[in-house]
Amino acid sequence: MDPPAEVRAWCQAARRPCVLSGAGMSAESGVPTFRDTPRSLWARFDPATLATPEAYERDPALVWAWYQWRTHLVRRAQPNEGHVALARWARSRPELRIVTQNVDDLHERAGSPEVIHLHGSLFAARCVACGRPPSQPLASLGDDGPPPLRLPPPTCAACGGLLRPGVVWFGEALPPGPWQAALDAVTRCDLLLVVGTSGLVHPAASLPAQALARGVPVVEINPQPTPLSPLASRVWRTTAAVGLPQLLPD
Ligand code: APR
Repeated sequence: MDPPAEVRAWCQAARRPCVLSGAGMSAESGVPTFRDTPRSLWARFDPATLATPEAYERDPALVWAWYQWRTHLVRRAQPNEGHVALARWARSRPELRIVTQNVDDLHERAGSPEVIHLHGSLFAARCVACGRPPSQPLASLGDDGPPPLRLPPPTCAACGGLLRPGVVWFGEALPPGPWQAALDAVTRCDLLLVVGTSGLVHPAASLPAQALARGVPVVEINPQPTPLSPLASRVWRTTAAVGLPQLLPD
């Protein structure tokens, strides 16, 4: 299915485009999404026991092991054609900003320079007590055998505190810097592409409305309908890796 002509024209005309991406952006790289399939993370795992500060306090080894497993999956994954198309677009649109809810590094590995991580990163562990990053690179899980159910988090070389995953858990505020950068990007953009997000998690899900309120075209790229669909300027029912290369040719 060809890109809607209007959407292609908006992309060609845009000088300060912004992309809001979610887990669907990395689905075709083999990274599980959270909600849309029976294999999605929250269909298999309980976020209350794995993705809250209380869960970490209760059982740090369970939480740490689970995030090491997710990091392992991302390390084995490759950016897909969607990530590559956005990185290519950035070369002709230096003011392109990518605001992602994803904690993987696939946008960066594809070569995208300006990526704003709203929900943190799997590669930004820090000490839960003093906030420092690890003093040396963290060991990664191997491919030999099932991932461990429990793995004690390493301790901080500076203060002895436990390390925690560098992601934003449910009930935690977004990091102020990236949030402000995301607001700035949406406030100044002349086109917003919303790729692969269910639009259910706030405050990220509130960003498209900000662009719409300014009369900026907002395009949803998602094989499934979301709460944003009736509000978007245009909806294109395709996937990130199939649609974006067509929309953003060389
Ligand atoms: N291309 C484009 N979109 C896709 C693809 C694909 N290949 N595959 C799935 N999708 C769409 C689904 O239809 C769904 O609307 O991506 C969306 C994925 O939704 P979620 O799994 O809810 O992921 P996301 O919106 O990123 O979740 C937001 O929730 O659990 C928290 O912190 C976590 O950042 C995450 C936040």
